[in-house]
Amino acid sequence: MNKIGMNERVEALKAEAAAALEKAETTQQLEDVRVRFLGKKSELAKLRKGIGALDKAERPAVGKLLTELQRSLAGGIETRLEEIGRQERARQLQNETIDITLPGRAPSFGSEHPISQTARRMIDIFQSLGFETVEGPEIDTEYYNFDALNTPAHHPARDMHDTFYIDCGGKPYLLRTHCSPMQVRYMEQHRPPLRIVVPGRVYRRDADPTHSPMFHQLEGLAVGEGVRFSDLKGVLALFAQEMFGAETRVRFRPSYFPFTEPSAEVDFSCSFCDRDESCRVCKGTGWLEILGAGMVDPEVFKAVEYDAERYTGFAFGMGIDRIAMLKYGIPDVRILFQNDMRFLTQF
Ligand code: DAH
Repeated sequence: MNKIGMNERVEALKAEAAAALEKAETTQQLEDVRVRFLGKKSELAKLRKGIGALDKAERPAVGKLLTELQRSLAGGIETRLEEIGRQERARQLQNETIDITLPGRAPSFGSEHPISQTARRMIDIFQSLGFETVEGPEIDTEYYNFDALNTPAHHPARDMHDTFYIDCGGKPYLLRTHCSPMQVRYMEQHRPPLRIVVPGRVYRRDADPTHSPMFHQLEGLAVGEGVRFSDLKGVLALFAQEMFGAETRVRFRPSYFPFTEPSAEVDFSCSFCDRDESCRVCKGTGWLEILGAGMVDPEVFKAVEYDAERYTGFAFGMGIDRIAMLKYGIPDVRILFQNDMRFLTQF
């Protein structure tokens, strides 16, 4: 082939390469183009080998021509490579976009159990009246749960407090049946004047729609010089109004507890009706039985070595669960302890 023929070949190759570059759409296809036009078996390589067969005079010019061809092809590939790279990145960005307009996943918040909410509200009210909050052990001795509270082993009042006894190294322990033992424990450690409330879990052998074998009480105790029954009435009346509304009235009925004398059963006027025959909460009586209370029996003071001639006091104990049920209109105590989310998420 002479120089003229060579020129034509070169031009033809340029055109072919340009067309192939145009068609290539991925870096892989572009690599194929590079091998085809610049590789060892390419037409260009063959042309180079053919230089030796040319007239000596023609060789430099043809060599130059082929070098230019090589540069031009390499340049074209380089340019196309950048273009394809840009397109591939753009496509990738397009495919991998995150739709930030999607709504987020809302975190789910828990809520305080209705009994805890009720206990907190009750404690707040007594705190505003100067009562300190203390807690006692749920497993206590027979002495604190009964004997020190003027309830000796033969006392019939023990029957209502059947519970689980635990043999602990010979000492008679039990699951406490009320929060009253903390009266004694606290008085042993403190001198009057004192005012405490004791929230906590208590245990009895009871299970029906209104009794749970584990339930919660809030015990109260105030001791000092000149503490009177009217103080008890005032404190409980104020508690009733704060808890169930300013219209709420209290009623005291004579009752019996071994650790108080006199003792009373205290009712709150029904805040769900106006003495309505059909009221399901008070059953038409207009009153709700809420708690037990009374003046601290001198026998209890004797157990803690307080001078019963000098000090008087009042005590009361009420069910937190019962108050929560009344406050929220819960008909069955058992639902409070089933951890059913359909119930709990309502609070
Ligand atoms: N501890 C009693 C009970 O669980 C409730 C009670 C009644 C507590 C009268 C008192 C009280 O402090 O004075 O049945």
